[in-house]
Amino acid sequence: MIKRGALIVLEGCDRSGKTTQCQKAIRWLQESNKEAHLMRFPDRSTIIGSLINKYLECSTELDDHAIHLLFSANRWELLPDIKKLLQKGTNVIVDRYSYSGIAFSASKPNMDLRWCQQSDSGLLKPDLVIFLDINPVEAQTRGQYGSERYENLEMQKIVRSNYLKLQDESWRVVDASRSMEEVWRDVCRLVQEALDNITPDSALWK
Ligand code: TMP
Repeated sequence: MIKRGALIVLEGCDRSGKTTQCQKAIRWLQESNKEAHLMRFPDRSTIIGSLINKYLECSTELDDHAIHLLFSANRWELLPDIKKLLQKGTNVIVDRYSYSGIAFSASKPNMDLRWCQQSDSGLLKPDLVIFLDINPVEAQTRGQYGSERYENLEMQKIVRSNYLKLQDESWRVVDASRSMEEVWRDVCRLVQEALDNITPDSALWK
């Protein structure tokens, strides 16, 4: 029987280095002759993703609940793809997942964290969540924020505190204020550990 692949999620505030570490993980897995596939949320290539893209680029306005549900729907629509990959033994590295969905939506006034969690309940639970932790003030010195919605310091501070409320036993917090290579040493060790400890899959927040 084929051993299923690992579902590994990288989370963190903007400029925490998620995308770089995801790419390093994919390269390292492939160089070690392990099947690996990179995904990112939001996936802007679908119809739902294109609506999210318009919202993030500020070319359209949407109610806070409605956009939250679209981000969630974007994960649900890609769940069958993730399941197929894992079942055939491919390790899936994901750049942002449900935790971003909740941490960002719940940082808005009048948005309740538990309400935000509901729409992602039942998605696949990751084998490992690596939270790249950096103080948003320090992260901002790595480069100016762009023009997308949410790219501002006040929001990022609330987002970070929301992320920390979502930690469970699948989380590992990595100090992302260090050099790319130092962070990678920890990420690489954690990815290896996850691959060595695959358990039957389970659902998120059920
Ligand atoms: P990106 O910069 O990684 O493409 O993410 C785009 C923005 O969308 C980023 O500010 C985080 C935010 N986001 C949500 O608000 N909800 C979600 O479910 C996800 C995946 C991202």
